[in-house]
Amino acid sequence: MGNQYPKFSLCILYSTNLLSKHSNFHAFRGITMAKVKASYVCTDCGSEYVRWLGQCNDCKAWNTISEFRQAKSSPRSSSFSGFAGAAGSQVQTLDAIDLTDLPRFSSGFSEFDRVLGGGIVPGSAILIGGEPGAGKSTLLLQTMCTLAENMEALYITGEESLQQVAMRAKRLGLATNKLKMLSETSVENICLIAEKEKPKIIVIDSIQVMHMSDIQSAPGSVSQVRETAAYLTRFAKQHHVAMLIVGHVTKDGSLAGPKVLEHCIDCSIMLEGSTDSRYRTLRGHKNRFGAVNELGVFAMTGGGLKEVKNPSAIFLTRGEEQTPGSAVMVLWEGTRPLLVEIQALVDHSALGNPRRIAVGADQNRLSMLLAILNRHGGLQMNDQDVFVNVVGGIKVAETSIDLALILALVSSFRDNALPQELVVFGEVGLSGEIRPVPSGQERINEAAKHGFKKAIVPFNNMPKDKIEGMEVIGVKKLSEALEVM
Ligand code: TYD
Ligand code: MG
Repeated sequence: MGNQYPKFSLCILYSTNLLSKHSNFHAFRGITMAKVKASYVCTDCGSEYVRWLGQCNDCKAWNTISEFRQAKSSPRSSSFSGFAGAAGSQVQTLDAIDLTDLPRFSSGFSEFDRVLGGGIVPGSAILIGGEPGAGKSTLLLQTMCTLAENMEALYITGEESLQQVAMRAKRLGLATNKLKMLSETSVENICLIAEKEKPKIIVIDSIQVMHMSDIQSAPGSVSQVRETAAYLTRFAKQHHVAMLIVGHVTKDGSLAGPKVLEHCIDCSIMLEGSTDSRYRTLRGHKNRFGAVNELGVFAMTGGGLKEVKNPSAIFLTRGEEQTPGSAVMVLWEGTRPLLVEIQALVDHSALGNPRRIAVGADQNRLSMLLAILNRHGGLQMNDQDVFVNVVGGIKVAETSIDLALILALVSSFRDNALPQELVVFGEVGLSGEIRPVPSGQERINEAAKHGFKKAIVPFNNMPKDKIEGMEVIGVKKLSEALEVM
């Protein structure tokens, strides 16, 4: 998906710059510019024709008809107005704006609410992205069945038949008597029906099958996805309806994914987790109403998605005996800490070019840490295959993983297990210094709460007061951390 968009914009440049006069490129021009319709107009009397004529049929004048290009007047030109809600042209001060109709409402899942920044805001457009099979439809069906108890809710399915959705709802034991269902893929029709039904919340499943009659390209193409999402967003803002839009992301990016419409929606949320793993994480990538780095954790069970209220406990289920190559760290996700286990396997390589594989962590960061370890820790792993895994299918983007990763690597390399009750976090700089990370105190508290007795942390993250039952060791340099180990 990453390289699809640039390719596309290349086409646009090509068509507009070089071939804009070429008649075969109408379809392309339609995407990039305002739609241009050629008509023929008599310059004397103003009569309009679809093709050129020598004499005007109305005023009978000769040689007065010339080509005229005008932007096509279509619902799209009206879609440029009112995008940010009710269109009005009067200027007012911020404090004069009426805020009374903006209370958030809960989705029924506290983990979902947390990622949304505290609940669903009326009139917002929320994109739920994820790979096919991640559980987007399941999550939204569960949410909508709960919400329908108290408010008008409309679920639009474009992918599954109504029977399929009904069967799933029945199997999951959801309340089915209130939720309104519609099978439709035309956004114009959807908005017409929504205007009549007046729901407070709408689910569109999914944006890739929606289409607008105005646009020639197939559903799922970049122009369709963008325009339909913009149309739905505008409807949401103008009618104060919360719009939850499902968007598939595929690994190879063959479908126009959520990235192309992230600019027009208010929140973009990804449901992640491989289909063979039990856990799914919900993470905000853009949120106009709250912080983005919040993480919600769900478990996919036989009875649908269930919230995981204490994720640290499940990501840390380990055996009695501590094995080499495993280190526990404390992540900081939005507003809460999360304990995760980092595993490393360092093994002699039979290949000339040893492998470096990281699952759940950044591969480039791994290469960098191996170089730091070589230079400042005196440990050479040039002839070793290195595998790293973050347990539980979590993806760690934080730099606080550095120290835990290094200790796991060293532990595996030396075949020497770290103590069971040890927890580690900290960023490692290129000169081998250990840098502090945000919310150090809270991380240590969380580890203590889960029974950890010892922590290796950056020196600047040392807590001011002693923590009951926890020995905290502050380190300034990588060599100090390796000594403590
Ligand atoms: P689905 O919500 O259809 O995924 P998406 O809409 O994101 O494509 O979820 C499909 C997967 O979830 C499917 O592979 C089976 C699994 N699943 C369960 O394990 N338990 C359940 O109760 C349900 C409804 C689905
Ligand atoms: Mg689905």
